[in-house]
Amino acid sequence: MDIRMPIRAVLLALAGLLSIAIHPADSRAADSPGMDLLKNRCASCHSLTGPAPASIHALWARKGPDFFYAGNKYQRSWIVSWLQHPVRIRPAGMFYADHLKPGPKRDMVDESTLRPHVALSKADAILAADALMTLKGHNDLIKMEHVAPGSISKSMGEMVFDKFLGCLACHRTDPDYGGLSGPELYTAGSRLRPEFIASYIRNPQAWDPKIWMPDKHVNDARIQQLVHYIESLNLGGSHASSP
Ligand code: HEC
Ligand code: HEC
Repeated sequence: MDIRMPIRAVLLALAGLLSIAIHPADSRAADSPGMDLLKNRCASCHSLTGPAPASIHALWARKGPDFFYAGNKYQRSWIVSWLQHPVRIRPAGMFYADHLKPGPKRDMVDESTLRPHVALSKADAILAADALMTLKGHNDLIKMEHVAPGSISKSMGEMVFDKFLGCLACHRTDPDYGGLSGPELYTAGSRLRPEFIASYIRNPQAWDPKIWMPDKHVNDARIQQLVHYIESLNLGGSHASSP
């Protein structure tokens, strides 16, 4: 009798077991074409699995925003349209100190150090957006928020955002007005989910432990006002017409 046969059978069975261990059943969703696209073309700069950087050094080295909670952060229609025509959101890049130069009065953005973002075809943008929507990190934080519909006058909104809470020092409310070290907020009304805006203002470090946005212990009523103010800026326009 040839003893090589049973050994081969055992080896094959072992290989089968190993491949089950490497590809657990719950990774099926991760095998969609959209998730493959994210893994192959985006994951070198965007973390799909988290956690957020746990040290200042890792924060400064981060190449792009974290995506492990993308489904709780972004509006799908905005992602589909932005990915086809990306425009800058952080005026001075991911880490402002790497992209500022001294100007006549104050620091200016050194445009030569910033690279344009990769643009996708419409079909790929839809695939990527659908896959991003499945990444639901921090469900717990989102569930705690309730944003009531409402509005705030422009002057009151500016007062709260700028004079009371100092948000303008880091965020732009118009392409030429505001700080450089945080993402612009004049398109945030169409980019971000209202519950994410509320939650991030309530506790920035719950999302991103080392981020330099201060926790100002903003109370609930003010958080509602700030969300309504940010939504009123909405230079991002409505993306209701995109698929
Ligand atoms: C070379 C690094 C790099 C790669 C590769 C990359 N990105 Fe980005 N991405 C960035 C940076 C940097 C930003 C921040 C841009 C800004 O603030 O203007 C960004 C921003 C974004 C945003 C806006 C998010 C936000 O919170 O501002 C989306 C959506 C996005 N990327 C999707 C993708 C997708 C999808 C892919 C793969 C097809 C991809 N990116 C590949 C670096 C990258
Ligand atoms: C010292 C600078 C600083 C101040 C002051 C500040 N922020 Fe931020 N903010 C940031 C940074 C940095 C981020 C996250 C950057 C990133 O995701 O790359 C951020 C993120 C945000 C986001 C999420 C935006 C997005 O596209 O992900 C919102 C909304 C926001 N801030 C609102 C506020 C409000 C309202 C105030 C005032 C109560 C405020 N910020 C004060 C720096 C600041």
